[in-house]
Amino acid sequence: MKNIALLTSGGDAPGMNAAIRAIVLSAHHYNYNLIGYYHGYNGLINRECKSLKLADVNGIIGRGGTILKSARCNAMHSEQGVNQAILTLENDKIDALIVIGGDGSFKGAIKLAKHWQGQVIGIPGTIDNDICETDYTIGFSTAVNTAIEAIDKIRDTADAFERVFLVEVMGRRSGHITFNVGIATAAEQILSFENFDCTDQAARLNDLSNDIKVVQQNRHAGYLIVIAENLWPEGNTNLAAQITNKTGIDCTPCILGHIQRGGAPVAKDRILATKLGIAAVQAITEDKTGIMIGESNGAVVTVLLQHATQKTKEVSQRLIKAQHDILSVSNQG
Ligand code: F6P
Repeated sequence: MKNIALLTSGGDAPGMNAAIRAIVLSAHHYNYNLIGYYHGYNGLINRECKSLKLADVNGIIGRGGTILKSARCNAMHSEQGVNQAILTLENDKIDALIVIGGDGSFKGAIKLAKHWQGQVIGIPGTIDNDICETDYTIGFSTAVNTAIEAIDKIRDTADAFERVFLVEVMGRRSGHITFNVGIATAAEQILSFENFDCTDQAARLNDLSNDIKVVQQNRHAGYLIVIAENLWPEGNTNLAAQITNKTGIDCTPCILGHIQRGGAPVAKDRILATKLGIAAVQAITEDKTGIMIGESNGAVVTVLLQHATQKTKEVSQRLIKAQHDILSVSNQG
């Protein structure tokens, strides 16, 4: 019989609840005692917790957000905070901790593992899909679908008014959401860290404005730019204003924001979350520690948390090339 602690941390992602459900069911299967800590690492630091039973996870597989709540935890950046979290783990006689979250959450888990003897297991849950050593993170597919649905609607009004829209999507500083959403919505421009160097802002503004003018002259339709958040140095809204000034064509900024984090998880996220949740508990039975459970080519894999966090997963070059090749043709027509 082991005592397992579970928390969700950082930006919530659709499918986190499905992972929690799988962990609760698996823990029950192995007769483990499972304790959920609330509000990410704050729940460990402030000892805010509850024993998780089968009844707690009835009907949650299709719910967005996380029943354990989530938070970013500044205290985990200090030695005092980490020590306090460890004290709770020791006082509660925890044998293993499962953290569902992204890069920052895993870095917190690595800090704990340095000074705490228990097992530490990470499950990648973030809409950004920026974690190495896993094909996908829980929540990414849903966020992409949510953004596509919204942008398809923006397309209708953009076409009706023959207007330019600059639609900002999330992703922190990586372009997985931007490229996937941009390609799936046939955006006229996809701008992200991987393909749009903002060092020479005047040149970039010129290129963009020229393309907009040419395309708008040829085609009486909307022009959609899907842009990564945090890309334009003065803010993407400012870029929209600069495009309007330069082209004389209205460019409306539209920040999709947190709707991308919410909503019922799509099938892919529910299934991924279930597989990873089960595998996390399985790894605990095998006394593994310091690992992330991910998925590679459809197979569940275990990788060192250090490897998963040492760099940000890059957007596939094939995707970037596909976007480039498609745009070079479609903007002519
Ligand atoms: O990491 C998930 C994410 O949604 C990012 O895409 C975004 O940059 C960030 O979180 C927003 O965080 P917050 O909700 O704390 O502002």
